[in-house]
Amino acid sequence: MKKGIILYRSKYGAARKYAEWLRDMTDFSCAETAKIAVSEVDPYETVILCGSIYASGIVGLPFLKKNIGRWKEKKIAIFCVGASPFDEKAFAEIKARNLTGDLREIPLFYGRGAWDESKMKFMDRTMCKMLQKSIAKKRSGYIRTMDGGADACQRAELRLDR
Ligand SMILES: Cc1cc2nc3c(=O)[nH]c(=O)nc-3n(C[C@H](O)[C@H](O)[C@H](O)COP(=O)(O)O)c2cc1C
Repeated sequence: MKKGIILYRSKYGAARKYAEWLRDMTDFSCAETAKIAVSEVDPYETVILCGSIYASGIVGLPFLKKNIGRWKEKKIAIFCVGASPFDEKAFAEIKARNLTGDLREIPLFYGRGAWDESKMKFMDRTMCKMLQKSIAKKRSGYIRTMDGGADACQRAELRLDR
């Protein structure tokens, strides 16, 4: 068996940054979910999925969901990346929403990503505005706008002793 692989899915680079830091810290392989065949993941003992959060969903998760049945013997963990500062209640919501069925017992971790509206595609910028409006109405939710251009990715989020 090979030791481990970090799989990531990232739109603007934040989850990729964490995946590459993890690769450097562990010596695991690293690959994008869209560019790897399931059979290439089979030989690894450990799989870590790094995916960013969009509208409360963790991207890259469908890849894991689809294949979890054949990876029952593997050690699996998920590291998700969102714009907001860590918040226990919001994190619990993300967990309940995303880790369902066979994914329920998988350990989930969180790190802060980046928020730069000037780099976002038109659709994403529009969607963020809509999400923020609905969150403001509900007085709950996960997106709190960061001041333009903030990159809050920190290698320290990956400390292994936490
Ligand atoms: C359309 C859209 C929806 C988002 N939804 C959330 C969200 O629900 N919670 C959150 O914490 N961050 C949210 N974000 C922020 C992203 O998770 C953040 O920018 C992250 O760093 C993106 O990572 P990536 O570059 O790897 O794709 C959203 C961003 C966009 C553009």
